[in-house]
Amino acid sequence: MRPVQIKDGIHWVGAVDWNNIDFHGYSLARFGTTYNAYLVFDEKITLFDTVKAPFKDEFLECLSQVVDPCKIDYIVANHLEPDHSGCLPELIAACKPEKVFCSPMGQRAMEAHFDTTGWPVQAMKSGSTLSLGRRTVHFLETRMLHWPDSMLSYIPEDKLLIANDAFGQNIASSERFADQIDRAHLKRRMTEYYANIITPYSPVVEKTLATVAEMGLDIDMIAPDHGLIFRGKEMVDFALDTYAEFAAQKPANRAVVVFDTMWHSTERMAHAVADGLMDEGVSVRVMHLKSFHHSEVMTEIFQAGAVVVGSPTHNNGILPLVADLLTYMKGLRPQNKVGAAFGSFGWSGECVKIITQWLADMSFEVVDPAVKVKHVPDRAVLDQCVDLGRAVGRTLKAKL
Ligand code: FEO
Repeated sequence: MRPVQIKDGIHWVGAVDWNNIDFHGYSLARFGTTYNAYLVFDEKITLFDTVKAPFKDEFLECLSQVVDPCKIDYIVANHLEPDHSGCLPELIAACKPEKVFCSPMGQRAMEAHFDTTGWPVQAMKSGSTLSLGRRTVHFLETRMLHWPDSMLSYIPEDKLLIANDAFGQNIASSERFADQIDRAHLKRRMTEYYANIITPYSPVVEKTLATVAEMGLDIDMIAPDHGLIFRGKEMVDFALDTYAEFAAQKPANRAVVVFDTMWHSTERMAHAVADGLMDEGVSVRVMHLKSFHHSEVMTEIFQAGAVVVGSPTHNNGILPLVADLLTYMKGLRPQNKVGAAFGSFGWSGECVKIITQWLADMSFEVVDPAVKVKHVPDRAVLDQCVDLGRAVGRTLKAKL
Protein backbone atom coordinates (compact mmCIF):
# COMPACT_ATOMS: atom_id res chain seq x y z
CA MET A 1 0.00 0.00 0.00
CA ARG A 2 0.99 3.57 -0.57
CA PRO A 3 1.25 5.98 2.36
CA VAL A 4 -1.67 8.40 2.75
CA GLN A 5 -1.32 11.92 4.10
CA ILE A 6 -4.00 12.38 6.77
CA LYS A 7 -2.95 15.87 7.93
CA ASP A 8 -0.16 18.27 7.04
CA GLY A 9 3.01 16.40 7.88
CA ILE A 10 1.22 13.29 9.14
CA HIS A 11 0.93 10.09 7.12
CA TRP A 12 -0.79 6.72 7.47
CA VAL A 13 1.92 4.14 6.89
CA GLY A 14 0.25 0.86 7.88
CA ALA A 15 -0.60 -2.44 6.25
CA VAL A 16 -3.86 -3.83 4.91
CA ASP A 17 -4.52 -7.47 5.81
CA TRP A 18 -7.12 -8.50 3.25
CA ASN A 19 -7.11 -12.15 4.29
CA ASN A 20 -7.23 -12.23 8.08
CA ILE A 21 -10.32 -14.09 9.21
CA ASP A 22 -9.61 -14.59 12.90
CA PHE A 23 -8.39 -12.68 15.95
CA HIS A 24 -8.01 -15.24 18.73
CA GLY A 25 -11.50 -16.67 18.24
CA TYR A 26 -13.17 -13.52 16.91
CA SER A 27 -14.15 -14.20 13.32
CA LEU A 28 -13.64 -11.17 11.10
CA ALA A 29 -16.48 -12.28 8.82
CA ARG A 30 -14.11 -12.15 5.84
CA PHE A 31 -13.79 -8.37 5.99
CA GLY A 32 -10.10 -8.52 6.95
CA THR A 33 -8.44 -5.72 8.88
CA THR A 34 -5.65 -3.15 8.83
CA TYR A 35 -2.72 -2.49 11.12
CA ASN A 36 -2.38 1.28 11.15
CA ALA A 37 0.80 3.16 11.92
CA TYR A 38 1.26 6.93 11.72
CA LEU A 39 4.32 8.96 10.84
CA VAL A 40 4.64 12.56 12.05
CA PHE A 41 7.17 14.93 10.50
CA ASP A 42 8.48 17.47 12.98
CA GLU A 43 11.87 18.38 14.41
CA LYS A 44 11.73 14.84 15.73
CA ILE A 45 10.36 12.48 13.11
CA THR A 46 8.08 10.16 15.05
CA LEU A 47 6.39 6.88 14.24
CA PHE A 48 3.34 5.78 16.20
CA ASP A 49 3.01 1.97 16.36
CA THR A 50 4.12 -0.64 13.85
CA VAL A 51 2.30 -3.60 12.24
CA LYS A 52 1.98 -7.37 12.55
CA ALA A 53 5.25 -9.22 11.90
CA PRO A 54 4.32 -10.90 8.58
CA PHE A 55 3.70 -7.44 7.12
CA LYS A 56 7.21 -6.17 7.88
CA ASP A 57 8.34 -5.87 4.26
CA GLU A 58 5.11 -4.21 3.13
CA PHE A 59 5.30 -1.82 6.07
CA LEU A 60 8.93 -0.83 5.48
CA GLU A 61 8.18 -0.32 1.80
CA CYS A 62 5.21 1.93 2.62
CA LEU A 63 7.21 3.83 5.22
CA SER A 64 10.19 4.24 2.90
CA GLN A 65 8.01 6.06 0.36
CA VAL A 66 7.81 9.03 2.74
CA VAL A 67 10.94 8.77 4.87
CA ASP A 68 14.25 7.02 5.01
CA PRO A 69 13.65 4.82 8.11
CA CYS A 70 17.05 5.71 9.53
CA LYS A 71 15.81 9.32 9.82
CA ILE A 72 13.09 8.35 12.32
CA ASP A 73 13.99 9.84 15.70
CA TYR A 74 11.24 8.54 17.95
CA ILE A 75 8.98 5.50 18.01
CA VAL A 76 5.87 5.52 20.18
CA ALA A 77 4.45 2.08 21.01
CA ASN A 78 0.94 2.75 22.28
CA HIS A 79 0.24 -0.97 22.72
CA LEU A 80 2.44 -4.06 22.73
CA GLU A 81 0.04 -6.68 21.36
CA PRO A 82 1.91 -8.29 18.44
CA ASP A 83 -0.45 -6.94 15.77
CA HIS A 84 1.05 -3.51 16.54
CA SER A 85 4.47 -4.33 17.91
CA GLY A 86 5.39 -7.26 15.69
CA CYS A 87 7.86 -5.22 13.64
CA LEU A 88 9.46 -3.33 16.53
CA PRO A 89 12.73 -5.31 16.57
CA GLU A 90 13.27 -4.92 12.82
CA LEU A 91 12.26 -1.30 12.91
CA ILE A 92 14.49 -0.42 15.83
CA ALA A 93 17.34 -2.19 14.05
CA ALA A 94 16.62 -0.24 10.85
CA CYS A 95 16.01 3.18 12.46
CA LYS A 96 18.28 3.15 15.48
CA PRO A 97 15.86 5.67 17.06
CA GLU A 98 16.92 8.12 19.71
CA LYS A 99 14.03 6.98 21.92
CA VAL A 100 11.24 4.41 22.06
CA PHE A 101 8.31 5.58 24.17
CA CYS A 102 5.60 3.44 25.75
CA SER A 103 3.51 3.35 28.92
CA PRO A 104 5.05 2.00 32.16
CA MET A 105 3.06 -1.22 31.70
CA GLY A 106 4.12 -1.18 28.05
CA GLN A 107 7.75 -1.27 29.12
CA ARG A 108 7.06 -4.46 31.06
CA ALA A 109 5.20 -5.97 28.12
CA MET A 110 8.00 -4.95 25.75
CA GLU A 111 10.57 -6.68 27.93
CA ALA A 112 8.38 -9.78 28.10
CA HIS A 113 7.96 -9.95 24.32
CA PHE A 114 11.40 -8.92 23.07
CA ASP A 115 15.06 -8.82 23.95
CA THR A 116 15.21 -5.07 24.62
CA THR A 117 18.90 -4.98 25.43
CA GLY A 118 20.23 -1.72 24.09
CA TRP A 119 16.81 -0.33 23.18
CA PRO A 120 16.45 3.33 24.27
CA VAL A 121 13.08 2.77 25.97
CA GLN A 122 11.43 5.48 28.04
CA ALA A 123 8.16 4.91 29.89
CA MET A 124 5.67 7.79 29.79
CA LYS A 125 3.05 7.99 32.53
CA SER A 126 -0.48 9.19 31.96
CA GLY A 127 -0.49 12.97 31.73
CA SER A 128 3.13 13.25 30.61
CA THR A 129 4.04 15.10 27.42
CA LEU A 130 6.68 14.84 24.75
CA SER A 131 7.80 17.70 22.52
CA LEU A 132 8.39 16.80 18.89
CA GLY A 133 9.32 20.40 18.02
CA ARG A 134 6.28 22.29 16.78
CA ARG A 135 4.01 19.63 18.22
CA THR A 136 3.53 18.09 21.66
CA VAL A 137 2.28 14.57 22.34
CA HIS A 138 0.09 14.09 25.41
CA PHE A 139 -0.04 10.52 26.68
CA LEU A 140 -3.14 9.05 28.29
CA GLU A 141 -2.90 5.54 29.72
CA THR A 142 -6.03 3.45 29.18
CA ARG A 143 -5.16 0.40 31.26
CA MET A 144 -7.32 -2.57 30.27
CA LEU A 145 -8.61 -0.87 27.16
CA HIS A 146 -7.87 -3.51 26.29
CA TRP A 147 -4.44 -4.55 27.67
CA PRO A 148 -2.72 -3.21 30.80
CA ASP A 149 -0.19 -1.37 28.60
CA SER A 150 -2.67 0.40 26.29
CA MET A 151 -2.40 4.16 25.94
CA LEU A 152 -3.59 6.95 23.66
CA SER A 153 -1.51 9.74 22.15
CA TYR A 154 -3.08 13.16 21.64
CA ILE A 155 -1.49 15.91 19.57
CA PRO A 156 -3.31 19.19 20.32
CA GLU A 157 -1.66 21.18 17.54
CA ASP A 158 -3.32 18.82 15.04
CA LYS A 159 -6.39 18.03 17.15
CA LEU A 160 -5.44 14.41 16.53
CA LEU A 161 -6.13 11.46 18.83
CA ILE A 162 -4.11 8.37 17.95
CA ALA A 163 -6.35 5.85 19.64
CA ASN A 164 -4.68 2.49 19.25
CA ASP A 165 -7.28 -0.31 19.53
CA ALA A 166 -10.06 2.01 20.72
CA PHE A 167 -12.55 3.01 17.99
CA GLY A 168 -11.17 0.27 15.71
CA GLN A 169 -13.07 -1.67 13.11
CA ASN A 170 -11.86 -4.74 11.29
CA ILE A 171 -12.21 -3.57 7.70
CA ALA A 172 -9.63 -4.11 4.99
CA SER A 173 -10.27 -1.45 2.37
CA SER A 174 -8.73 0.85 -0.19
CA GLU A 175 -10.33 3.77 1.69
CA ARG A 176 -8.56 5.23 4.72
CA PHE A 177 -11.34 7.47 6.10
CA ALA A 178 -14.57 6.38 7.72
CA ASP A 179 -16.62 8.96 5.81
CA GLN A 180 -15.66 7.23 2.55
CA ILE A 181 -17.65 4.07 3.25
CA ASP A 182 -21.29 3.26 3.92
CA ARG A 183 -22.26 4.38 7.45
CA ALA A 184 -24.34 1.27 8.23
CA HIS A 185 -21.43 -0.99 7.24
CA LEU A 186 -19.10 1.09 9.39
CA LYS A 187 -21.40 0.94 12.42
CA ARG A 188 -21.89 -2.80 11.98
CA ARG A 189 -18.12 -3.41 11.94
CA MET A 190 -17.67 -1.11 14.97
CA THR A 191 -20.38 -3.04 16.79
CA GLU A 192 -18.85 -6.40 15.96
CA TYR A 193 -15.40 -5.20 17.09
CA TYR A 194 -16.73 -3.77 20.35
CA ALA A 195 -18.90 -6.81 21.08
CA ASN A 196 -16.05 -9.25 20.59
CA ILE A 197 -13.13 -7.31 22.08
CA ILE A 198 -14.08 -4.27 24.13
CA THR A 199 -17.28 -5.28 25.96
CA PRO A 200 -15.61 -6.40 29.22
CA TYR A 201 -13.74 -3.12 29.41
CA SER A 202 -16.81 -0.90 29.08
CA PRO A 203 -16.17 0.75 32.48
CA VAL A 204 -12.72 1.83 31.19
CA VAL A 205 -14.36 3.17 28.02
CA GLU A 206 -16.74 5.26 30.12
CA LYS A 207 -13.88 6.52 32.28
CA THR A 208 -11.79 7.38 29.22
CA LEU A 209 -14.67 9.24 27.55
CA ALA A 210 -15.24 11.16 30.79
CA THR A 211 -11.53 12.02 31.01
CA VAL A 212 -11.48 13.22 27.41
CA ALA A 213 -14.52 15.41 28.15
CA GLU A 214 -13.08 16.74 31.43
CA MET A 215 -9.79 17.59 29.78
CA GLY A 216 -11.72 19.39 27.06
CA LEU A 217 -9.62 17.76 24.36
CA ASP A 218 -10.29 19.43 21.04
CA ILE A 219 -10.37 16.52 18.60
CA ASP A 220 -11.07 16.71 14.89
CA MET A 221 -9.52 13.38 13.98
CA ILE A 222 -9.48 9.97 15.67
CA ALA A 223 -6.92 7.64 14.16
CA PRO A 224 -7.34 4.07 15.41
CA ASP A 225 -4.90 1.24 14.77
CA HIS A 226 -7.48 -0.90 12.96
CA GLY A 227 -9.69 0.15 10.09
CA LEU A 228 -10.73 3.63 9.06
CA ILE A 229 -9.89 7.08 10.41
CA PHE A 230 -12.60 9.42 11.69
CA ARG A 231 -12.00 12.91 10.29
CA GLY A 232 -13.97 16.08 10.95
CA LYS A 233 -16.18 16.98 13.88
CA GLU A 234 -19.22 15.08 12.66
CA MET A 235 -17.32 11.81 12.32
CA VAL A 236 -15.43 12.32 15.59
CA ASP A 237 -18.72 12.92 17.40
CA PHE A 238 -20.15 9.84 15.72
CA ALA A 239 -17.24 7.74 17.04
CA LEU A 240 -17.43 9.17 20.57
CA ASP A 241 -21.24 8.89 20.74
CA THR A 242 -21.16 5.35 19.39
CA TYR A 243 -18.68 4.29 22.07
CA ALA A 244 -20.75 5.99 24.78
CA GLU A 245 -23.79 4.07 23.52
CA PHE A 246 -21.87 0.78 23.39
CA ALA A 247 -20.33 1.19 26.85
CA ALA A 248 -23.73 1.91 28.47
CA GLN A 249 -25.03 -1.52 27.33
CA LYS A 250 -28.63 -0.41 27.76
CA PRO A 251 -31.06 -3.28 27.12
CA ALA A 252 -32.79 -3.17 23.73
CA ASN A 253 -36.11 -4.67 22.68
CA ARG A 254 -34.33 -7.49 20.87
CA ALA A 255 -33.74 -11.13 21.74
CA VAL A 256 -31.47 -13.90 20.55
CA VAL A 257 -32.67 -17.50 20.71
CA VAL A 258 -29.51 -19.54 20.26
CA PHE A 259 -29.25 -23.31 20.29
CA ASP A 260 -27.75 -26.50 19.00
CA THR A 261 -29.80 -29.60 18.38
CA MET A 262 -29.28 -33.34 17.80
CA TRP A 263 -32.55 -34.56 16.29
CA HIS A 264 -34.49 -31.27 15.93
CA SER A 265 -36.38 -31.40 19.25
CA THR A 266 -34.44 -28.50 20.74
CA GLU A 267 -34.71 -26.72 17.39
CA ARG A 268 -38.51 -26.96 17.46
CA MET A 269 -38.47 -25.64 21.01
CA ALA A 270 -36.30 -22.70 19.89
CA HIS A 271 -38.88 -21.64 17.32
CA ALA A 272 -41.67 -21.89 19.88
CA VAL A 273 -39.70 -19.70 22.32
CA ALA A 274 -39.21 -17.20 19.47
CA ASP A 275 -42.98 -17.21 18.83
CA GLY A 276 -43.56 -16.27 22.46
CA LEU A 277 -41.06 -13.41 22.27
CA MET A 278 -42.71 -12.16 19.08
CA ASP A 279 -46.11 -12.31 20.81
CA GLU A 280 -44.70 -9.72 23.23
CA GLY A 281 -43.46 -7.49 20.42
CA VAL A 282 -39.79 -8.34 20.83
CA SER A 283 -37.59 -8.45 17.72
CA VAL A 284 -36.05 -11.92 17.62
CA ARG A 285 -33.01 -13.49 15.97
CA VAL A 286 -32.97 -17.32 15.98
CA MET A 287 -29.43 -18.67 15.61
CA HIS A 288 -28.48 -22.31 15.14
CA LEU A 289 -24.89 -22.73 16.31
CA LYS A 290 -24.05 -25.05 13.44
CA SER A 291 -24.80 -22.13 11.10
CA PHE A 292 -23.29 -19.20 13.00
CA HIS A 293 -19.82 -18.62 14.42
CA HIS A 294 -19.79 -17.72 18.10
CA SER A 295 -18.56 -14.19 17.34
CA GLU A 296 -21.49 -13.54 14.99
CA VAL A 297 -23.79 -14.72 17.78
CA MET A 298 -21.96 -12.50 20.27
CA THR A 299 -22.51 -9.44 18.08
CA GLU A 300 -26.26 -10.14 18.11
CA ILE A 301 -26.24 -10.83 21.87
CA PHE A 302 -24.41 -7.54 22.48
CA GLN A 303 -27.26 -5.71 20.75
CA ALA A 304 -30.04 -7.70 22.43
CA GLY A 305 -31.73 -7.37 25.81
CA ALA A 306 -32.55 -11.07 26.15
CA VAL A 307 -30.72 -14.30 25.38
CA VAL A 308 -32.51 -17.66 25.46
CA VAL A 309 -30.17 -20.64 25.19
CA GLY A 310 -31.09 -24.18 24.20
CA SER A 311 -29.22 -27.47 24.15
CA PRO A 312 -30.10 -31.11 24.39
CA THR A 313 -28.45 -33.05 27.20
CA HIS A 314 -25.37 -34.76 25.83
CA ASN A 315 -23.26 -37.16 27.91
CA ASN A 316 -24.68 -35.58 31.09
CA GLY A 317 -23.70 -32.15 29.81
CA ILE A 318 -24.57 -29.82 26.93
CA LEU A 319 -23.55 -29.91 23.29
CA PRO A 320 -20.00 -28.66 22.62
CA LEU A 321 -21.05 -25.69 20.46
CA VAL A 322 -23.33 -24.41 23.23
CA ALA A 323 -20.55 -24.83 25.80
CA ASP A 324 -18.23 -22.95 23.43
CA LEU A 325 -20.65 -20.04 23.11
CA LEU A 326 -21.27 -19.85 26.86
CA THR A 327 -17.52 -19.87 27.56
CA TYR A 328 -16.91 -17.15 24.98
CA MET A 329 -19.86 -15.06 26.20
CA LYS A 330 -18.91 -15.34 29.87
CA GLY A 331 -15.43 -13.98 29.14
CA LEU A 332 -16.94 -10.95 27.39
CA ARG A 333 -19.15 -10.16 30.42
CA PRO A 334 -22.22 -8.67 28.69
CA GLN A 335 -24.38 -6.64 31.07
CA ASN A 336 -28.09 -6.05 31.66
CA LYS A 337 -29.41 -9.19 29.97
CA VAL A 338 -32.48 -11.30 30.61
CA GLY A 339 -31.87 -15.03 30.07
CA ALA A 340 -33.60 -18.40 30.03
CA ALA A 341 -32.87 -22.02 29.11
CA PHE A 342 -34.57 -24.86 27.27
CA GLY A 343 -33.67 -28.23 25.81
CA SER A 344 -34.55 -31.86 25.19
CA PHE A 345 -33.02 -34.98 26.71
CA GLY A 346 -33.09 -38.74 26.40
CA TRP A 347 -32.54 -39.98 29.96
CA SER A 348 -30.57 -37.81 32.43
CA GLY A 349 -31.73 -34.24 31.50
CA GLU A 350 -29.07 -31.95 33.02
CA CYS A 351 -29.11 -29.46 30.09
CA VAL A 352 -31.33 -26.68 31.43
CA LYS A 353 -29.79 -26.76 34.89
CA ILE A 354 -26.32 -26.37 33.39
CA ILE A 355 -27.36 -23.53 31.06
CA THR A 356 -29.29 -21.74 33.81
CA GLN A 357 -26.21 -21.85 36.05
CA TRP A 358 -24.07 -20.31 33.28
CA LEU A 359 -26.62 -17.51 32.82
CA ALA A 360 -26.81 -16.88 36.57
CA ASP A 361 -23.00 -16.81 36.77
CA MET A 362 -23.07 -14.03 34.16
CA SER A 363 -25.56 -12.09 36.33
CA PHE A 364 -28.35 -12.47 33.78
CA GLU A 365 -31.87 -11.96 35.10
CA VAL A 366 -32.96 -15.57 34.70
CA VAL A 367 -36.60 -16.28 33.82
CA ASP A 368 -38.08 -19.53 35.12
CA PRO A 369 -39.30 -22.10 34.61
CA ALA A 370 -36.82 -23.40 32.06
CA VAL A 371 -38.44 -25.91 29.71
CA LYS A 372 -37.08 -29.40 29.13
CA VAL A 373 -38.65 -32.35 27.41
CA LYS A 374 -37.88 -36.05 27.15
CA HIS A 375 -37.13 -36.88 23.50
CA VAL A 376 -39.71 -34.97 21.40
CA PRO A 377 -41.84 -31.93 22.31
CA ASP A 378 -45.59 -32.31 21.81
CA ARG A 379 -47.98 -29.38 21.46
CA ALA A 380 -48.25 -28.98 25.24
CA VAL A 381 -44.46 -28.67 25.60
CA LEU A 382 -44.23 -26.28 22.68
CA ASP A 383 -46.89 -24.18 24.40
CA GLN A 384 -44.67 -24.12 27.50
CA CYS A 385 -41.86 -22.85 25.26
CA VAL A 386 -44.15 -20.14 23.89
CA ASP A 387 -45.01 -19.19 27.47
CA LEU A 388 -41.31 -19.07 28.34
CA GLY A 389 -40.70 -16.74 25.38
CA ARG A 390 -43.59 -14.52 26.49
CA ALA A 391 -42.28 -14.41 30.07
CA VAL A 392 -38.81 -13.44 28.83
CA GLY A 393 -40.40 -10.77 26.63
CA ARG A 394 -42.37 -9.31 29.55
CA THR A 395 -39.30 -9.32 31.80
CA LEU A 396 -37.28 -7.59 29.11
CA LYS A 397 -39.91 -4.94 28.45
CA ALA A 398 -40.04 -4.13 32.15
CA LYS A 399 -36.32 -3.24 31.93
CA LEU A 400 -36.58 -0.96 28.88
FE1 FEO B 1 -5.03 -4.57 17.83
FE2 FEO B 1 -4.83 -5.27 21.13
O1 FEO B 1 -4.24 -5.23 19.37
